[in-house]
Amino acid sequence: TPDSGLDLRNIQGDILSGMPKKTETFYFFQITDAPTFRQHLRAFVPLVKTVAQALKDRDDIDKHKKKDEGHGNKPHVIPIVGVNVSFSHFGFVKLGIDDSKLIDPAFLIGQRQDAQGLGDKGTGDGESFVPDWDDAFKQDIHGVFIVSGDSHPTVDKKIQDIEKLFKIGTNAASYKKIVSIRGDVRPGDQSAHEHFGYLDGVSNPAIIGFDKNPPPGPKPVQAGVILLGQEGDQNKDGREPWMIDGSFLAFRHLLQNVPEFDEFVNKNRLQLPGLTEKEGADLFGARLVGRWKSGAPVDLTPFLDDPDLATDPLRNNNFHFSAERDFQKLCPFAAHVRKTNPRADLEELGFSIDRNRILRRGIQFGPEVTRAERQQKKTLHRRGLLFACYQSSIASGFQFIQKSWANNPDFPFGEQTPETPGVDPIIGQLRGQTDRGLMSGTNPNTPATTVSLNDIWVIPRGGEYFFSPSVKALRETIAA
Ligand code: HEM
Repeated sequence: TPDSGLDLRNIQGDILSGMPKKTETFYFFQITDAPTFRQHLRAFVPLVKTVAQALKDRDDIDKHKKKDEGHGNKPHVIPIVGVNVSFSHFGFVKLGIDDSKLIDPAFLIGQRQDAQGLGDKGTGDGESFVPDWDDAFKQDIHGVFIVSGDSHPTVDKKIQDIEKLFKIGTNAASYKKIVSIRGDVRPGDQSAHEHFGYLDGVSNPAIIGFDKNPPPGPKPVQAGVILLGQEGDQNKDGREPWMIDGSFLAFRHLLQNVPEFDEFVNKNRLQLPGLTEKEGADLFGARLVGRWKSGAPVDLTPFLDDPDLATDPLRNNNFHFSAERDFQKLCPFAAHVRKTNPRADLEELGFSIDRNRILRRGIQFGPEVTRAERQQKKTLHRRGLLFACYQSSIASGFQFIQKSWANNPDFPFGEQTPETPGVDPIIGQLRGQTDRGLMSGTNPNTPATTVSLNDIWVIPRGGEYFFSPSVKALRETIAA
């Protein structure tokens, strides 16, 4: 166990280490009877997986893998399951818990009220804005159980255990299930890739004290960037004891229109000397993301994919855009990874971006693209990303990244950007518009050339902001 000074038995496991998972269900609920719920929660708390336990799970998996390999066997999956729980502001209100010292304005209004500001489509305006989301997310969600594991049966069995504790299906039930959404890691060699095909989960902030010997890359951040009450939490001194070691969870249910995205990439493929059509398309796509599908960063390998670089942890995150703060030959300004973690673009101007770092813990959902979808170049089945990230401030973390960076066509800004970057082509949104304007820099030789982002391939269908309390807070404050 890393010697971090952090109480790893008090912090929920999804936050710092991530729970090992092939599948994960987000189970959203609304509390119907607060006193009974608190009583049921008492029996539930022992199920919660902590960071310490999640780290042990990882060790066990590694040990089994080594043993199987030592015996010349194919590694077999050992049953692993983990449970976490988080509450929305509305959940705390229902439970009669004063959460005003959580301070975060995004958390306190909830994501539905924030959706217009995030750029989601919808009807009405201001307070009466109703996002164009799935019905489930238009209701008040009070909390979410996150259940992850090695297989559907282990996860489903654990969900049954939870439902039993809360007496679901009887008159004594203390919450109403709103919806549960299952995410699954993609099959085979796509297992760590999101549905557009790019390797995901490469760059997460290293936490000082917790991540021993972090590989070269962005500067490690203090634990308080993620955990409330720890060094680096902007509101450290204003927290109440029960808030310490908790973290805000921003959840987004994001559809991905994969065949349509592929068609866009193919249509706009770069026609450069020496490149085949496929290479031209791969290069164009890589410049939208800032990484090749393999995971190799275009800042380090701008013209050719480099799978060895992609899987080398000592190199695959060690780039800073510092060689090209004022141009975009290597990586477009608007590329997803440059928008969401601009590194030297801001740091070399003297701005710290530590408080804008987030720990991403999402998972894919939905089936692989079918032959019919490929032929018709049209999405016929829902698939995408159950986006989840942790931070000690949603206003500085998820909300800031989405609103001020991804959705802002002028970011990265300043004298150093000769061309207007455009919005993030993956997640940028312009107030409900499908046409998201122009992006520059996709062609390395003529950075001022723009492509029109007149379609959108990542579509928000719902979400909420939650708080994942410490185990102590669950036991002594929330279930008390
Ligand atoms: C990185 C895809 C949504 C924030 C990445 C990477 C990919 C990716 C392929 C590069 C791999 C890595 O560094 O781990 C997607 C897709 C999304 C999505 C397909 C939607 C369906 C979001 C959202 C946010 C976000 C909503 C936050 C508002 C980030 C951050 C990084 C990242 C912070 C790491 C950047 C870095 O440190 O270099 N994403 N993403 N992503 N994404 Fe996303």
